Amino acid sequence: MFLVSFLVLNTADNPRQLGNNIFQAGSIAQKYNCQLTRMDFQQEEGLMSCLPLGLNQIEIQRGLTTSSTAIFVPFTTQELFQNGKEALYYGINALSNNLIMVDRKLLKNPNGLILGTPGSGKSFSAKREIANCFLLTSDDVIICDPEAEYAPLVERLHGQVIKISPTSTNYINPMDLNLDYSDDESPLSLKSDFILSLCELIVGGKDGLQPVQKTIIDRCVRLVYQTYLNDPRPENMPILEDLYNLLRSQEEKEAQYIATALEIYVTGSLNVFNHQSNVDINNRIVCYDIKELGKQLKKIGMLVVQDQVWNRVTINRAAHKSTRYYIDEMHLLLKEEQTAAYTVEIWKRFRKWGGIPTGITQNVKDLLSSREVENIFENSDFVYMLNQAGGDRQILAKQLGISTHQLSYVTHSGEGEGLLFYGSTILPFVDHFPKNTELYRIMTTKPQELKKEDE
Ligand SMILES: Nc1ncnc2c1ncn2[C@@H]1O[C@H](COP(=O)(O)OP(=O)(O)OP(=O)(O)O)[C@@H](O)[C@H]1O
Ligand SMILES: [Mg+2]
Repeated sequence: MFLVSFLVLNTADNPRQLGNNIFQAGSIAQKYNCQLTRMDFQQEEGLMSCLPLGLNQIEIQRGLTTSSTAIFVPFTTQELFQNGKEALYYGINALSNNLIMVDRKLLKNPNGLILGTPGSGKSFSAKREIANCFLLTSDDVIICDPEAEYAPLVERLHGQVIKISPTSTNYINPMDLNLDYSDDESPLSLKSDFILSLCELIVGGKDGLQPVQKTIIDRCVRLVYQTYLNDPRPENMPILEDLYNLLRSQEEKEAQYIATALEIYVTGSLNVFNHQSNVDINNRIVCYDIKELGKQLKKIGMLVVQDQVWNRVTINRAAHKSTRYYIDEMHLLLKEEQTAAYTVEIWKRFRKWGGIPTGITQNVKDLLSSREVENIFENSDFVYMLNQAGGDRQILAKQLGISTHQLSYVTHSGEGEGLLFYGSTILPFVDHFPKNTELYRIMTTKPQELKKEDE
């Protein structure tokens, strides 16, 4: 049994408004069979008791049992507020208005997903996290950007945007060899493995490379790096053409066959990858813009980007540094079998290498297209869920076991509103980013706002 004083403080800008407010409060109470009494001659004591001073000067008390009292205790919402140095901001708790500060590195696995219908604020929240982690942590950031929308942010942070397209003059050399891998495996074997996959994509029909072809490629790869290994200066780094020439000079007819298949990428029209690197791939924040990668180059381009990402993660692991990898429009990668397989691999192995991948996609359905891809969904402990389409909500309710009430936070919700899943914690969040800021201007994708900016 508790003795309780229940006080309601009404405020307003003028007496008339105040009268209205008091009337309204009274009618709400009446609806629940309660009657509010005005505190005549005790206004000041009433005000003092309402202030958070822990001082009750009103002696009107009522007897309530525990369960009735509990209704008045407002501190039963779940909170996510971590004090760590690397905790980042993810919005405001929609129930209690407290900040949500979270460090994904403290999760069992830091893999993340951002899901939501078009325009719900997925890319925006990814950009906000990138800016936040750029300023607060020392992690490296890599972005795979199929819509060419991250450039303003990346450039503002003095990062490197690498535009990969048949007409671009930004080059990355897929043959780049990194000698400071402090891994057990030799750098050359790793590279040879990558070049085999590359040739497999280029040459391989249905059955992939024949054993003889593999031997020849491996032999040539070892030869082509001789000069560089003897004298590791950047100018000595081989390019695809050197490999091509070596293949041409081999006796076997299989070598000629591979060389011919490679030709279009060396002297032909798809020769983007036949140049020395001329971009700073070691910048702290690197964005691969693959919007204009044509159909022909898509698979190869993705393979090269993927190789770059693994390179960076390997180097960073040795330096005990985390690497964040953002994949926007991930459904594009999940459509192709080969790129889907890499993505799944990232979700399975990245954690051990200090990597933090974040996938951004519109529909949960994309993630349930095959058993393999489903693993991505199941292996993500961090899910930032924005407004969801009807069909997806049903799937989510079943897969994640969220209640109808929780689903209401992702039903017709506004930009930057939704549900946050952090391990086993689920909370509704709201993040209304102020629009009069420079950060907002470089992060928005609304055509009308971009147009205004241009003018
Ligand atoms: N948290 C937010 N606060 C304020 N405005 C926001 C917020 N999130 C998104 N917006 C607004 O919504 C617009 C669209 O967001 P965003 O580009 O992230 O969409 P998207 O979900 O990535 O869509 P798509 O699937 O088409 O890529 C932004 O340009 C911005 O103006
Ligand atoms: Mg987007």
